[in-house]
Amino acid sequence: MKKLLFAILMTVISVSFVCAETDKAGKAGHDIFDFKKVNVDQFIEPDICEGCHSDIYEQWKGSMHSNAYTDPIWRAATKLFLKDAKKEGELLEMKACVKCHTPLGFRSGSITSPAEDYDKLDALSAEGIFCNWCHNISEVKHLGNAGYEVAPGGGEDDPSTMLGPFKDAESPYHPTKYSELHTRSEFCALCHNVSHSANNLPIEQTYNEWKDSPYNTGDPTTTVNCQDCHMRQRPGIPSTGKTERPDNPGLACDSGPERKHIWTHYFVGGNSVVTKLLGSDLHAKMAVERLQHAADLEFIKCGPFKKETLSHIKIKVINSGAGHYLPTGLTEVRQMWLDIIITDAKGNVLLSSGALDDKGNIDRKAVVFHTILGNEKGEPVINVALADRILYDHRVPPKGFQVEGYSFYIPESAVSPLKVKAILKYRSASQALTNTLLGKNAPEMPVVDMAVVEETVEFE
Ligand code: HEC
Ligand code: HEC
Ligand code: HEC
Ligand code: HEC
Ligand code: HEC
Repeated sequence: MKKLLFAILMTVISVSFVCAETDKAGKAGHDIFDFKKVNVDQFIEPDICEGCHSDIYEQWKGSMHSNAYTDPIWRAATKLFLKDAKKEGELLEMKACVKCHTPLGFRSGSITSPAEDYDKLDALSAEGIFCNWCHNISEVKHLGNAGYEVAPGGGEDDPSTMLGPFKDAESPYHPTKYSELHTRSEFCALCHNVSHSANNLPIEQTYNEWKDSPYNTGDPTTTVNCQDCHMRQRPGIPSTGKTERPDNPGLACDSGPERKHIWTHYFVGGNSVVTKLLGSDLHAKMAVERLQHAADLEFIKCGPFKKETLSHIKIKVINSGAGHYLPTGLTEVRQMWLDIIITDAKGNVLLSSGALDDKGNIDRKAVVFHTILGNEKGEPVINVALADRILYDHRVPPKGFQVEGYSFYIPESAVSPLKVKAILKYRSASQALTNTLLGKNAPEMPVVDMAVVEETVEFE
């Protein structure tokens, strides 16, 4: 197992030409147990909410929030990483794995670490990030690392106050209250900024990336929050930075009233694999739609080409659709890369970069956008618990771009014109890592074409 992981990492490493070592994160960590304890029976099952909020329930069910604890990739990764965690800080970070993926399980003390049998957790805690949990988030202590408190009620017979975007909502079942927090990116930041529990190494920084981006104007009337892209998406309407993000008129509750905008609850990112494995083709399809509206490619140099000389092309990879880096989140696992192929009129290949081999590995010289984490010896690690530094970070900033260059030789025998094709590709994890995690049940990791550009150029 170790050998295989090492082999995967070496493939990843050989891909990167520069390995800039960042400063060692010397800061002490944070207290993962800093929260008020709750009881499972204070919360309400999502099926009860479904009784009146049926559309919202359908959207949420099958989302990665509903899958956060049952996610087979998360389960396998946490079990695998635990085996190599030995030091106190590493073991602390491993405990934190259940903190965000089953917030009720962790805060009720029903599960304390990935060492436990995942199948034994109570049914409600296993619902991951569920309705009543989010709508009880009442107090921010710090942004990130689950730094919040919840204000639960007394369960099904004594429901809590549901915090939400309306100032005039009235429900026969539960009290309601307007919450400005729920309308802003800071709400998502509570879980979408993750750092190492012992050494504070920034691991997932989606909120910080957004905060420093042009989408955060500082003016609430022009700021584009996480919700504006992720909670306006519905089938056929990807709602990204490069598309319209129209209102979604309708009913928040099956019995009305009609409202001019209802925030959707599909919570779609790039994950078209786990969504499908756990039964929602719709969420998987919407992830593909989102990825296909996230980026653009442009040739900024493509010719003139001459026989028997070294020729050059330059491609601009533009993050036109995401409110954070491309990719974001679990960037040491996600893969976005350029697949380039240059052929002559007879189909002879003059340059190929980024193609997959028969095992599903990306060729070693390809340009891959991702990060590589390192341990205290400076060796690359995929296990976040062992990481204390970032060895490499090559990604595309929001509304920004990266330029990549390629050189190739045109032989005397080549026939004009040349066809130059570039595809930007995405997958949630490498095939090798997927196989290591899921063994014989491993699916073929879907590869999504995010953007394509093609030019035909005559030469002498
Ligand atoms: C990840 C947290 C999260 C989960 C899980 C979640 N919601 Fe929401 N919900 C929100 C946020 C945030 C808003 C408001 C968005 C805004 O104002 O920008 C919202 C809005 C609402 C609204 C107001 C109507 C609308 O959509 O605009 C209702 C009703 C609602 N949610 C019910 C539910 C139900 C029922 C479930 C479970 C099936 C659920 N929510 C799951 C975060 C969540
Ligand atoms: C502070 C909250 C938080 C903590 C703590 C946390 N996660 Fe996550 N995790 C997330 C969020 C948010 C995502 C989604 C990011 C994305 O999709 O890129 C995620 C996604 C993942 C995924 C991707 C699953 C998939 O299907 O692709 C894996 C694997 C994962 N986490 C493993 C871990 C491990 C291992 C730990 C403990 C070392 C951990 N998480 C601790 C918030 C957290
Ligand atoms: C008996 C029906 C019923 C049930 C069951 C129900 N709700 Fe509601 N809920 C309503 C009605 C009616 C509204 C007001 C709708 C409106 O004004 O558009 C509402 C409004 C909300 C709002 C918006 C609050 C605001 O001020 O913005 C949230 C959030 C919410 N419900 C969450 C939930 C959750 C979570 C559950 C399950 C734990 C749930 N509801 C169960 C009927 C119900
Ligand atoms: C209580 C913690 C929590 C809150 C609050 C939260 N999330 Fe998440 N979110 C998670 C976790 C954990 C995952 C990862 C599930 C997995 O991959 O196993 C996730 C996954 C996602 C994904 C899917 C990523 C993918 O790879 O496809 C999106 C999109 C997302 N969240 C958006 C949001 C937005 C937008 C908000 C704010 C409205 C928000 N989340 C609030 C915990 C949270
Ligand atoms: C301008 C639109 C826009 C905004 C604003 C935005 N996103 Fe995204 N998000 C996207 C697009 C497009 C993708 C798909 C590309 C990708 O996977 O990175 C995405 C993907 C994601 C993913 C999955 C990343 C992966 O590859 O695993 C997560 C998680 C996420 N967003 C969370 C957030 C959170 C949290 C915020 C606010 C802090 C936010 N997004 C703000 C457009 C947006």
